[in-house]
Amino acid sequence: MKRKIEKRMALTTIKTTIKISKNKAVSAKAFSQSVLGWFDEHGRKHLPWQQEKSAYRVWVSEIMLQQTQVTTVIPYFEAFMARFPTVATLADAPLDAVLGLWAGLGYYARARNLHKAAQVVRDEHGGEFPVRFDEVLALPGIGRSTAGAILSLALNQHHAILDGNVKRVLARVFTEPGWPGKTAVAEKLWRHSEYLTPAKRVADFNQAMMDLGASICSRSRPRCEACPLKESCRAYAEGQQSDYPGKKPKKAIPVRETQMLILANDDSEVLLQRRPPTGIWGGLLSLPEVPVGDDVSQWCEKNLGFAVAEQQRWPMVRHTFSHFHLDITPVVIEALAVGQAVNNNSPTMSVMEGPDWVWYKGSAELGGLPAPVSRLLEKVKVKQPT
Ligand code: ADE
Repeated sequence: MKRKIEKRMALTTIKTTIKISKNKAVSAKAFSQSVLGWFDEHGRKHLPWQQEKSAYRVWVSEIMLQQTQVTTVIPYFEAFMARFPTVATLADAPLDAVLGLWAGLGYYARARNLHKAAQVVRDEHGGEFPVRFDEVLALPGIGRSTAGAILSLALNQHHAILDGNVKRVLARVFTEPGWPGKTAVAEKLWRHSEYLTPAKRVADFNQAMMDLGASICSRSRPRCEACPLKESCRAYAEGQQSDYPGKKPKKAIPVRETQMLILANDDSEVLLQRRPPTGIWGGLLSLPEVPVGDDVSQWCEKNLGFAVAEQQRWPMVRHTFSHFHLDITPVVIEALAVGQAVNNNSPTMSVMEGPDWVWYKGSAELGGLPAPVSRLLEKVKVKQPT
């Protein structure tokens, strides 16, 4: 059976070679030999997730590496593995513990998906990370390239990958026009990646392609003289490296506005509110928000149950997401006898009890806070030395 599958895979590879090699752009064999030769000499082989290799460890590393550089990821990966050495420990942990270890890495949806996927592995795969491509692809937070990376890097299965770094390498080698965010362009790059992925040493090849993209074929200053692909790279031959990959067509992104309340009690603790589970910063603690146009005093009376003695508006800060700017106006408020009301457990302050409201003491035990909120809290600390 195994031989049959291998034979079928070999046939597919030959067919692809014949079909694509008609345009004589690049020989797949020469390409992978160059890449693997470079990997043997320069590739990274001692990263933590390359030791005691397992699909679980490679999965976590791939998710962390999605938007983050290797050097940043290493300590996060080590801490994560120390706390969650198995899928089961991750699945059984509270989400806040996972988000806490993620604090600083950003893109928290990755951590929420990791946690959710671990529970799927526990509940639907008997606690063993799946080794079938379709099953891996079906897990939350895992796309086609990540599924291929996990199974090729961990188990040497034959799958092509196409992350941002590989897209850049292939767009340049083949001078493939257009922005890879467009499906038609990405499909062409996938075909190149599949064509070039060798039948053997897939793990090393895929790792080398990602490393090449990150270290040599960088976006703005590629070091082409040191590149093992310079003989076959069309962009290099034509001096057009900076034209590839094509840029995303620019679109003005909208601006949303909000007011964030900064309310400290007598112990210099700042009031935080948990955000709804979906949407930006889903499930994270953040500063309470008052819609722009709503009067802050009235809002506090209605929603928090106390009168505002004084308020001070700080200069607006902008936080940019991929699809909109968020303009935040911080409003520092002094409530009438807030500390007393909390200490007395006044019914008017009951809204501030329970898991959605927290008095922040300046420590990290609460898990990740949104980046602009952390920055504002730093300013509060500076302004209120205790
Ligand atoms: N980016 C995504 N996965 C990676 C990996 N395995 N090595 C380096 N950079 C990566």
